[in-house]
Amino acid sequence: MKEKFPQNFMWGGATAANQVEGAYDQDGKGLSIVDAIPGGKKRLSIVSSPEFDFSLDTTRHTYPNHKGIDHYHRFQDDIALFAEMGFKCYRFSIAWTRIYPNGIEQQPNEAGLKHYDAVIDACIAQGIEPVITLSHYEMPLHLAKEFGGWKNRELIGHFERFARTVLTRYGHKVNYWMTFNEINSAAHFPIMSQGLTVKTGALDDQAKYQAWHNQFVASSLAVKIAHETNAKIQIGCMILYATNYAYDCDPVNQLETMKETQAFNFYCADVQAGGKYPYYAKRLWASKGVELDIQPGDLALIEQHTVDYIGFSYYMSSTINKTNPDALSAEGNLLGGARNPFLEASEWGWEIDPVGLRIALNQLYDRYEKPLFIVENGLGAIDKPDENHYIADDYRIKYLRQHIEAMADAVEDGVELMGYTPWGCIDLVSMSTGEMSKRYGLIYVDLDDNISGTGNRYRKKSFHWYQKVIATNGEDLS
Ligand code: BG6
Repeated sequence: MKEKFPQNFMWGGATAANQVEGAYDQDGKGLSIVDAIPGGKKRLSIVSSPEFDFSLDTTRHTYPNHKGIDHYHRFQDDIALFAEMGFKCYRFSIAWTRIYPNGIEQQPNEAGLKHYDAVIDACIAQGIEPVITLSHYEMPLHLAKEFGGWKNRELIGHFERFARTVLTRYGHKVNYWMTFNEINSAAHFPIMSQGLTVKTGALDDQAKYQAWHNQFVASSLAVKIAHETNAKIQIGCMILYATNYAYDCDPVNQLETMKETQAFNFYCADVQAGGKYPYYAKRLWASKGVELDIQPGDLALIEQHTVDYIGFSYYMSSTINKTNPDALSAEGNLLGGARNPFLEASEWGWEIDPVGLRIALNQLYDRYEKPLFIVENGLGAIDKPDENHYIADDYRIKYLRQHIEAMADAVEDGVELMGYTPWGCIDLVSMSTGEMSKRYGLIYVDLDDNISGTGNRYRKKSFHWYQKVIATNGEDLS
């Protein structure tokens, strides 16, 4: 019988430094933008307000990321649990501010470098391949406040120094890398990924597109350094992918869906994987009044140093509606759009769509013909532990099972899929709400939204289920 997944398929899990590490001011770490973003359900509306300027105010707000789940100190035990589940790889990010506290120093912080030496060595000792994101929503606060974020071209040099430092240090033992997490998310949330506030350009297309251009150049430089460091390295881009559907067969909605898919889903990967701005870019810029500052050499760099694979996150699909003013909107779906009556939604309103994942995989492979890596997917849910701290999270198992089935179908369709790292394999602080109670983990962490609790780790039912999935290389999903 033909196996569903290739023998070397990379099963694992994913986290990001700012959502798990805590220890936000220890061992020389500087403040990152997330360290200045309050937690709580109002998080996105606070950071989107015109007054927000990344000022820390502990009298009015709480900052759960400061403590996270203390992975900074507990990573050995956490990685041992990942190994127990059978992980082949672990996707995590390096906090830029542990290496260059303000982003501008000429010499790196050795204590920060040593920390990731230890994390990488712990993975390798357990037979787990590290997969590292260079920048996951955690740029140095100084670069956002004093330089105005990624719209400032000077960031390219600062990022290049950071990338060179960590690629040189770890590139002989870490084979898989990614440049910017969900780089295209800036279309909706430029605060986290580009360090822009309303005051400094979050609502200004000129600022966003210039920031993207600077990130594309920086990303190409990272790819160049990675390949020069070790020919074995595979370095990918990372995009947020939501399969888009037209609300109905009205050609106007179909056209709008095509345009949104180009502008949001494909624009960044077209540059990073395709090596040039796509044919539709000029009209897109003109429609938004954007005039890019492209310096000599930028386009050659972008062309010469394209990514090796497409990393992407997939949580939900999105339904595009331009002509039906009375249609219900998809409340809670981060990307907006219309409510899709064929789909159920998570407790946070994210519409669950495993078939959409199969479509996404086919769309991406058809377009880029490069290997794909699903580096985030999962269900944020409220878990209720019993008196033994056990969580029977059948809802999460169902979500993951359906998505893995969709992956298997896409592989049978002919898509080249490298691996799967479900998001928040261990409970962590949510990105959009800064809560602990929105849990994705296969491992429960006993902490509440105020980061009070024992911090103890407990295996959920999904832990044992995923262990079996990995052991059978995706054959047994029961
Ligand atoms: C992705 C991010 O957008 O979604 C993660 O890369 C994030 O950082 C994940 O945590 C899930 O989102 P949330 O808001 O539920 O934490």
